[in-house]
Amino acid sequence: MSADSPYEGRLIRLRAREPEDEPQLYTWFNDAEVTEHLSLRYPVSHAQERSFAEGTTVTGYFAANFAVVRKDTGELIGGVELKDLSPENRSAVLGIAIGDKRCWDGGYGTDTMRTMCRFGFEMMNLNRIELEVHADNARARHVYAKVGFQEEGVRRQALYKAGRYQDIAIMGLLAGELRLE
Ligand SMILES: CC(C)(COP(=O)(O)OP(=O)(O)OC[C@H]1O[C@@H](n2cnc3c(N)ncnc32)[C@H](O)[C@@H]1OP(=O)(O)O)[C@@H](O)C(=O)NCCC(=O)NCCS
Repeated sequence: MSADSPYEGRLIRLRAREPEDEPQLYTWFNDAEVTEHLSLRYPVSHAQERSFAEGTTVTGYFAANFAVVRKDTGELIGGVELKDLSPENRSAVLGIAIGDKRCWDGGYGTDTMRTMCRFGFEMMNLNRIELEVHADNARARHVYAKVGFQEEGVRRQALYKAGRYQDIAIMGLLAGELRLE
């Protein structure tokens, strides 16, 4: 594993969330293209996003929810979290959204996944990180497999959105399996 900063990858840096992030979150999470593959389905209000932004400013083992910023410009481009932490099992569930569509396919999501998983293994002593991904989110599945996640199962027709059912894949990554290249 790298001896570099645990908060930084090649392109991105993880930082704590700030209340000032709210307007950006509001724009992203009311954009159907951004939310297409997320669990969000209802329009969100400024009040909801303010409450989320303010409620996630204090970080810790059970609150590993971070903003993702570009290293070159410092611009906020997304968010990533490790939730459902289990100290007994040393496991967590990862969620990610690169909300700035201009950054899609620019390597930021891959770098964020690597940085957050490295943080989880090296700083939180996790042994397992898992996630759920919509079956037709081909870009995300490609990224997760590229960094080492393995598909472990399928929840058939677990999602109903945009007028149809869709499977949800469960993917998992164990300590030592993260691919940094
Ligand atoms: C999914 C997401 C995190 C990926 O981040 P990103 O910055 O766009 O991804 P990257 O640029 O690092 O990598 C994209 C890879 O997917 C590939 N890709 C793009 N579209 C693809 C498709 N339709 N099928 C297969 N692969 C695809 C790219 O070629 C690239 O692969 P490569 O680096 O091996 O060439 C980001 O797009 C995102 O947050 N999307 C909206 C919310 C979301 O879907 N979150 C995940 C919920 S589980």
